[in-house]
Amino acid sequence: MATEKILVIGSSGQIGSELVEELRARFGDDNVIASDIKTPECAVHKGPFEALDVLYTARVLETIKKHDVKQIYLLAALLSATAEQKIKLAWHLNMDGLINLLEICREHKIRLFWPSSIAVFGPNTPRQNTPQYTVMDPTTIYGISKLAGERWCEYYHQKFGVDVRSLRYPGLIGYKSEPGGGTTDYAVHIFHEARKHGSYECFLAADTMLPMMYMPDAIKATIDIMDADASKVKIRSSYNVAAMSFTPQQLADEIKKHIPNFRITYKPDIRQEYAASWPESMDDSYARKDWGWAHRYDLAAMTKDMLQNIHVESPVAH
Ligand code: NAD
Ligand code: SER
Repeated sequence: MATEKILVIGSSGQIGSELVEELRARFGDDNVIASDIKTPECAVHKGPFEALDVLYTARVLETIKKHDVKQIYLLAALLSATAEQKIKLAWHLNMDGLINLLEICREHKIRLFWPSSIAVFGPNTPRQNTPQYTVMDPTTIYGISKLAGERWCEYYHQKFGVDVRSLRYPGLIGYKSEPGGGTTDYAVHIFHEARKHGSYECFLAADTMLPMMYMPDAIKATIDIMDADASKVKIRSSYNVAAMSFTPQQLADEIKKHIPNFRITYKPDIRQEYAASWPESMDDSYARKDWGWAHRYDLAAMTKDMLQNIHVESPVAH
């Protein structure tokens, strides 16, 4: 049987650039169409690329028909910190982009992956081992758009049978791509600054515990849920997934095991408020039970791998 054609929308970003690389390694370069409003600068995209604005429905449809697309990963969004600065654009992109795609996937029977976030939770959510089903009162426009998006996904699945699958990603850490305007991005910047300057000024407070995941685990979770038999994907809003939780101080202490002179200082800004409303750790037992989710990297393994792969000349993420 021929491999199904896959379209990744928002492929030039932190997750997309790594997801495309892995999908192409598994399914072949020509079967994975990368697309973004921004043309990629890096060499990652060696296969097909389409310049595409997810809000321009006619162009999305044209691309789907041209390549006979059967699966879509929708990654185009504004992340928490950027979204707070551009709330109307964030709502427009994060919501209308998803609704456009749900409608297209309904009409054309396409399987859809759409990521949610730990930002769907809020100050009244239990912060330790946050359950799959609990109080959800997000305070950021980003979190509000993700919570609304989850409801749209479940609605389109229940009402129209759309095969939509979703994960509530924690903060994602990787060395191959730059992060795109999130609150958890300190945990990427810190590695580049540690290698380059031996020090880092953190925009979150020392004791801000957040759930995090190393990018290879996030990519694995994403492809695993998309490849799982439909009967195993029982939650069609979005699954909690977890790997590790740590504070900036704990991450700095782990980095010091490799770079003993590394220094961290703290200058919390507005992003501290967003982080303070999010979970410290997540209960991801539904994902483990339903479709076999298992992480591989903890804090020590992630830190060792990041430092082995980041060199002084690596592009510094800001
Ligand atoms: P990113 O900002 O790095 O990448 C997003 C990409 O979307 C960019 O390349 C951007 O050019 C593109 N884009 C923006 N507007 C577009 C449009 N109108 N049409 C087409 N493309 C457009 O973000 P990311 O970190 O790769 O996140 C991808 C998804 O995962 C988002 O939905 C985000 O909310 C979610 N997520 C990310 C994290 C994380 O830690 N990175 C955590 C939770 C959820
Ligand atoms: N990592 C994301 C952010 O900080 C959470 O979804 O915005």
